[in-house]
Amino acid sequence: MTTSAANHCFRPGQIWPDDRGVPINAHGGGVLLHDGVYYWFGEHKIAGEAGNRAEVGVHVYSSPNLYQWRDEGIALAVSDEAGSPIEHGCILERPKVIFNAPTGKFVMWFHLEPKGAGYSGSLSGVAVADRVIGPYEFVRAFRPNAGVWPANVPAAEQRELEPEKLALLATMELGGGPRAYYPKHLLFRRDFAGGQMARDMTLFVDEDGLAYHIYASEGNGTLHISQLSADFLSPAGKYVRVLPGRFNEAPAWFKVGGRYYMVTSDCTGWSPNPARLLAADTIWGPWEELGNPCLGSAQQVATTFQAQSTFVLPLPGRRDAFIFMADRWNPRDAIDGRYVWLPVEFRHGVPMIGWQEEWNLEFFDKMI
Ligand code: DGJ
Repeated sequence: MTTSAANHCFRPGQIWPDDRGVPINAHGGGVLLHDGVYYWFGEHKIAGEAGNRAEVGVHVYSSPNLYQWRDEGIALAVSDEAGSPIEHGCILERPKVIFNAPTGKFVMWFHLEPKGAGYSGSLSGVAVADRVIGPYEFVRAFRPNAGVWPANVPAAEQRELEPEKLALLATMELGGGPRAYYPKHLLFRRDFAGGQMARDMTLFVDEDGLAYHIYASEGNGTLHISQLSADFLSPAGKYVRVLPGRFNEAPAWFKVGGRYYMVTSDCTGWSPNPARLLAADTIWGPWEELGNPCLGSAQQVATTFQAQSTFVLPLPGRRDAFIFMADRWNPRDAIDGRYVWLPVEFRHGVPMIGWQEEWNLEFFDKMI
């Protein structure tokens, strides 16, 4: 096997060894650039189907160049304590870390499902550390925005759900994917008091230092964009609903020339589906759908190169240079999920993603 030390390119979908020759184990992850070093945080998965639950925690790697990654260990470990919200065997997905300059703390958010309850918890977990590689200390898990109405719903809809509608919802099978009937005006009202459901997620820090938590809510049918408090540890109390009933998950966020973009996916569990590109002129929207950003064969376009979006990494000091990061899941042997990193290309100003068997950062020098 080629070791990471010899790697000076990206090979999407191939095994990617770390500095010790061990395949990188950081699924559903995100990258933080701090003091000139990249840190890749992701779900540490174990072998087999058991790897779809969290038995170890969040793994972190560091790199000076994005090709070669040094294993920095487990940033946030799951707990051995029975009943802990992050007890091993819970579901801990899509961890992202941002740095809060005023407090000097590194803040991690992730999607958390307490052990043994499937995906019904729909919680956000928060952990914090003084050093970028951790150890991260678990702070709390909760449903965000309890007692707060979305900023973009009419006053007439800002009222808690009537008991008969609650009873009706209780009889409905509301899985995590599109349904013939999706009660798109009811779920955020049902969850007003206890907090909004939060599954697939990412974080974004804007140029003005304000941070946002973007998560699939309302049974995966509606994305929420939620501002974070100044210390990044809690929701600030303002959020909007995005494209209710469109079932977008796996949000990966980026900003180009003052415009905001997300790549998302449809909701089909671990199976790949066509990606979607969403855009808006302000964080709060309105968000428009621009279609599928993937370029290639019908099969590549229909499956997002057999992968699902997880993060878009801006390259510092370069205009319009972004890496699209996606996961090629392997739910039967979770540890063998692969990483698909591809350059974002601009066609008539629209961000698109094409397949590369092998590529390096010189790609961006050639981009016109
Ligand atoms: C799709 C999500 O994007 C993943 O993070 C994971 O939650 C799977 N669904 C589980 O089926």
